[in-house]
Amino acid sequence: VSTFDRFARNYNEGHEKAVRATGYSPAFFHEYKVLEVAARLEREGFASRGFKLLNYGCGVGECDRFLRRHLPAARILGVDVSAESIAVARESNQDLPDLSYCHLDGSSVPSDGKFEVAFIANVLHHVRRDLRPGVLASIRDTLAPGGLLFVFELNPYNPGTQWIAYQNDYKFDKDASLLRPGLTTRLLADTGFVPEAPRHHIFFPGQLSRLRGLEKHMEKLPLGAHYSVVARVP
Ligand SMILES: C[S@@+](CC[C@H](N)C(=O)[O-])C[C@H]1O[C@@H](n2cnc3c(N)ncnc32)[C@H](O)[C@@H]1O
Repeated sequence: VSTFDRFARNYNEGHEKAVRATGYSPAFFHEYKVLEVAARLEREGFASRGFKLLNYGCGVGECDRFLRRHLPAARILGVDVSAESIAVARESNQDLPDLSYCHLDGSSVPSDGKFEVAFIANVLHHVRRDLRPGVLASIRDTLAPGGLLFVFELNPYNPGTQWIAYQNDYKFDKDASLLRPGLTTRLLADTGFVPEAPRHHIFFPGQLSRLRGLEKHMEKLPLGAHYSVVARVP
C-alpha cells in the first residue's frame, strides 16, 4: 500500500490547507507548471502535431485538467504507485477526452509506443533517495529519442517552501526529502538525460501577485519556491 493511498480521498483538502499561507490556490500551482510546459512545447513545434505525454506520479489527477486544457494535441497517460489516487483521478476526470490512467504495480509503464514528453511534478521528493535513479531510468526508457522530460520540484533553498514541506510532506511521509536543484540535474545526467540549467519559479506570494511579471526575469536566481529542469533523451 502506498503512502498516498491514505490521503487520496482528501488530498485536495490537505493541499489547500498546506498552501493557504502562500496566497495562491492549489489550482494556481498546477496551472503555472502546465503553462510553462505548454510554452516550451509550442516553441518546439509540438502544438501542431499529435504527441503522447506521460504524467508520472499524477496523484489524484489535479494537473491533468490543465494538461488537457493547455495541450490539446496531447494523448495523456497518468501513472502512479498509489492505486487509490489513480481511482480518484479516474473518477474526477472521467469527462476529459484522450486521458487515461494506469496504476504502477511494479510493472513497467504500459504504452503502445514511446512517449514524446514526460512530466513529473512534486514526485521525486517523495521517492526514497536510493530509488530515484530507477524512477528516472524507467521514465527515460518510455521516452522516444529526442523526447523531453519536465521535472518540477520544491526548492529547499526557499525558506517558505522548507516551512510548508516541514509542516506537511515530512509529517506524513518519512521518506520525503527535498532535492537541491543541483542534485536533480545530476541525477538526470547520471540517468542518461541531457538536462538544461534549472529554472526558478514563484518568488512572490499571492498577496504580491502583481509582481509576477518580474518572475520571468528571475529564473536564474535559485531562491524561488519551485524550480523546473527540462531534460532531453539523446
Ligand atoms: C505530492 S503528490 C504529487 C501529485 C501530482 N504530480 C501533482 O503535482 O499534483 C506525489 C505523488 O507521487 C507518487 N509517487 C511517489 N513515489 C512514486 C513512484 N516511485 N512512482 C510513481 N509515483 C510515485 C505518490 O503516490 C503521489 O501521488
